[in-house]
Amino acid sequence: MDYLSIVLSLVTVFVAFYYFTTRNHNLFKKHGIVHVPPTPLFGNMGSFARRQITMLDLIVKTYQLDPKAKYIGFYEFLTPIIVLRDLDLIKAVTMKNLEQFSDHRPLVNRKVDPMLGGALFMLNGDQWKDHRNMLSPSFTSSKIKTMFKLMSECASRFAEHLSNLPEEQRETEMKSLLTKYTNDVIASCVYNVSIDSVKEPNNVFYVYGRISTTMATFKRSLLFLVHRNAPWLAELLQLKVVDSHIAKFFYDQVAETVETRQRTGTRRSDILQLFMDSNKKRESGKEMTVQDMANHAFSFFFGGFDTVASQTCIVAHLLAENPDVQERVQQEIDETLENNNGELTYEAMHGMKYLDAVINETLRLYPIALFIDRLCVKDFELPPARPGDKPFTVKAGMNIWVPVIAIHQDSKYYENPLKFDPGRFYENNKTITNSGVYMPFGLGPRMCIGNRFALTEIKVLLCHVLAKCSIKLAPRTITPLQFEKGVFNVTGKNGFWLAIEPRKSSYCFSTVSASAVSCS
Ligand code: HEM
Ligand SMILES: *[C@@H]1O[C@H](CO)[C@@H](O)[C@H](O)[C@H]1NC(C)=O
Ligand SMILES: *[C@@H]1O[C@H](CO)[C@@H](O)[C@H](O)[C@H]1NC(C)=O
Ligand SMILES: *[C@@H]1O[C@H](CO)[C@@H](O)[C@H](O)[C@H]1NC(C)=O
Ligand SMILES: *[C@@H]1O[C@H](CO)[C@@H](O)[C@H](O)[C@H]1NC(C)=O
Repeated sequence: MDYLSIVLSLVTVFVAFYYFTTRNHNLFKKHGIVHVPPTPLFGNMGSFARRQITMLDLIVKTYQLDPKAKYIGFYEFLTPIIVLRDLDLIKAVTMKNLEQFSDHRPLVNRKVDPMLGGALFMLNGDQWKDHRNMLSPSFTSSKIKTMFKLMSECASRFAEHLSNLPEEQRETEMKSLLTKYTNDVIASCVYNVSIDSVKEPNNVFYVYGRISTTMATFKRSLLFLVHRNAPWLAELLQLKVVDSHIAKFFYDQVAETVETRQRTGTRRSDILQLFMDSNKKRESGKEMTVQDMANHAFSFFFGGFDTVASQTCIVAHLLAENPDVQERVQQEIDETLENNNGELTYEAMHGMKYLDAVINETLRLYPIALFIDRLCVKDFELPPARPGDKPFTVKAGMNIWVPVIAIHQDSKYYENPLKFDPGRFYENNKTITNSGVYMPFGLGPRMCIGNRFALTEIKVLLCHVLAKCSIKLAPRTITPLQFEKGVFNVTGKNGFWLAIEPRKSSYCFSTVSASAVSCS
């Protein structure tokens, strides 16, 4: 090739690259929607990709671009996104117009990854509706109550472990510890497997669970990026997010349990049992298949493993930073136990008002779901963002974000929003949770189905742990709380380091039997 054609091909490649990396970047300018001018390829994610900003700060900054606008434009790399600010619009999108906004943006290509692709979060349209209706009965308050004992066993074992830590191990990284608890709870409540991941961190469940739910490795981030932005390429290369042998392990676990229960008639108060029972009430042809059950079971694992652990780490951190709040929680726990002969019941636990307020306030100040998203499936006209602007039509295929964290931290809605103050929930008695500016679990019909499960799981743990121990700041604790820059998930900077001290005068639980059978 001569010199000229080399130059020409280079120019062509450059122009094509420039076109590809900027072709969507004109939208907001064209329509006069407030936005930060994007950089090629990265859009508004440049500082994030360079690890200079946390996702939390990026969302808050975007939200604050124009306090008068009803929405803001944001480029997530090449994808234009409408970030809603106005509460009425948020309601319209998440609650009133389900027909236009029934879906999430696909995370994985279902043809390549049927197990993850079959999760409720990933399902769309009528399929989502059918499955949501199938699953909802398993997450009512009375059903969570039946699983309470299983959770309590895990929490009690966990608290026992913490209260007996030798002095030199009392400073611990809470996240790695708490994923062991959430792993055991899901294994017990969903898969009928009783394990003790603190004692046996190498059990298959924990190891496979960690592999399949860790998003942060470079390979996985790339995988998700391809699945999200080029599903055809994921299909062509058969890029699986969850390896086949791991998917098979979790499938077999469900298939075997269902088969055994059908054959022997044994029962257990877990989610699989609820699935099987609700199948009996359905007309034939509409039952959940074993594959459906396996998909959903896995998705609860996937959706509940890291989220609950991270959120609980943040609660623990805030309790350590606010010893007066912690003492008051401990007092409430002690009193409750005293009034119930040392036994923690479901009703007694949910009757603890201050504990409830502490958790709700944590979920307000630092919700780990920083934003929720909706995919537009039918064109939808938004009113002008600012007086004098033109209306903007959201086209099918476009993405909408609700910036949960930014609303939770907006002084327009919460007085002194950055202050951790459980009093605002304790005194106001549900007015906040019903106000439309509190959405740690999302909003509307697509709201988190596991919110009661999650809250119960967190409370059981705190009750058992705080009855026996106190959580203290440790030399490696970073205060105030700081998050890792440039990662999508909410992770403490350098992890969540805290110290666990046994309480001098701790209340004695009447012991819950906690057998530790390992999973082979
Ligand atoms: C503190 C813990 C948790 C948080 C903060 C959380 C948050 C969320 C959020 C924000 C959504 C999206 C809601 C929306 O788009 O409006 C969601 C969806 C979902 N969550 Fe959770 N979640 C947690 C724990 C759990 C647990 C333990 C489970 C399962 C047992 C679970 C199962 C699900 C499912 C299945 C969906 C999809 C619902 C649907 O699309 O219909 N989550 N969660
Ligand atoms: C979140 O990020 C941290 C640090 O990058 C990582 O250790 C952790 O495993 C991640 N969690 C998930 C679910 O990807
Ligand atoms: C569920 O687990 C328990 C003990 O963990 C066991 O005794 C029982 O056989 C299991 N049930 C089924 C149906 O697998
Ligand atoms: C909260 O409101 C309910 C009913 O409105 C009332 O019965 C209850 O006493 C209130 N609790 C507090 C702490 O104000
Ligand atoms: C805390 O939040 C839960 C649900 O998110 C709600 O049911 C409960 O009433 C709230 N408690 C208070 C004190 O606001």
